[in-house]
Amino acid sequence: MSEQMSSFISSKQLSLEQLHRIFSRAKWFKSEFGRSGRIHQLVDSEEARKKILSLVFLEPSTRTRTSFQVAALRLGLRVVLLDNPLVTSTQKGESLADTLRNVAAMLPDAMIVRYGVDRECDELLQTFGCPVINAGIGTMEHPTQALLDAFTILENRGGFRDERILIVGDVLHSRVANSDLVLLQMLGAEVAYCAPAEFIPKEEAWKSVKSFSDIDEGMEWASVVICLRIQKERHSTQSVGLTIAEYREKYRVGGDQLKRLRPDGILLHPGPVNRGVELSNFAFADPRCKVLEQVTNGVFVRSSLLSYVLGLEVIDG
Ligand code: NCD
Repeated sequence: MSEQMSSFISSKQLSLEQLHRIFSRAKWFKSEFGRSGRIHQLVDSEEARKKILSLVFLEPSTRTRTSFQVAALRLGLRVVLLDNPLVTSTQKGESLADTLRNVAAMLPDAMIVRYGVDRECDELLQTFGCPVINAGIGTMEHPTQALLDAFTILENRGGFRDERILIVGDVLHSRVANSDLVLLQMLGAEVAYCAPAEFIPKEEAWKSVKSFSDIDEGMEWASVVICLRIQKERHSTQSVGLTIAEYREKYRVGGDQLKRLRPDGILLHPGPVNRGVELSNFAFADPRCKVLEQVTNGVFVRSSLLSYVLGLEVIDG
């Protein structure tokens, strides 16, 4: 089956049907990889080899950038990576928007982009001649993280209908939380959050979302807990009025909190994890913690998405 998708900037763009198709192909890729250690045999290798993917990561990234690269290479695509601002012409005064314009002018088959808050770039993305995938833009959205979070929930919990998903931490500054909310509600899950006053989200979409001030109560309510990193780099220059010690005291998930999570519940985190702040080492080692499984799933979910965005023929299972 081959069906071309256009750009993927927001979780809101996907229909339920498209979502399930992405998940089912990701599941197929993962199981074939488990069986044979490769997935490139599932696509037309001649077609795949002709495609050039431009990755432009002008904000730090470990998982998302590497995962897109691995996903692309597993499919047999070719990748061009621009990820070090110190060696781009931004050092000579070129703007981020002009950097993106120039990469787009080289006519890649698709662009994967990450950058900070930049309205001019946001508008520009719609004008490029190739599909663009949002790999984390400002505080707006990070839709491929939401895809892999949802896929991990689907794998571990079997579905979304009766799921209660608690998002803990710096919800206000998290693009992951914004994308998770849209996608998980669309899939039928109930979403709630637990955040200190300083990190309560202000966007309209969060207004009617249930919230817990006490993490213990939230842990008892939830079947899935997603912890978030404190997004220090996005806080204004004024102090947010909350110290790390205060945060840890009230919102860190450790052994005591895990006792309240149901035995078949799961604990997620998009990474990077600040051990001891959002999750204790003990919590990280708990079998319900699926953080590294999320990372593995990121590769297969992104391979699946890329195959649709590039219109690759895939031998489906
Ligand atoms: C997140 C990001 O960059 O938005 N991480 C990720 O992509 N896996 C979350 C974060 O930085 O805290």
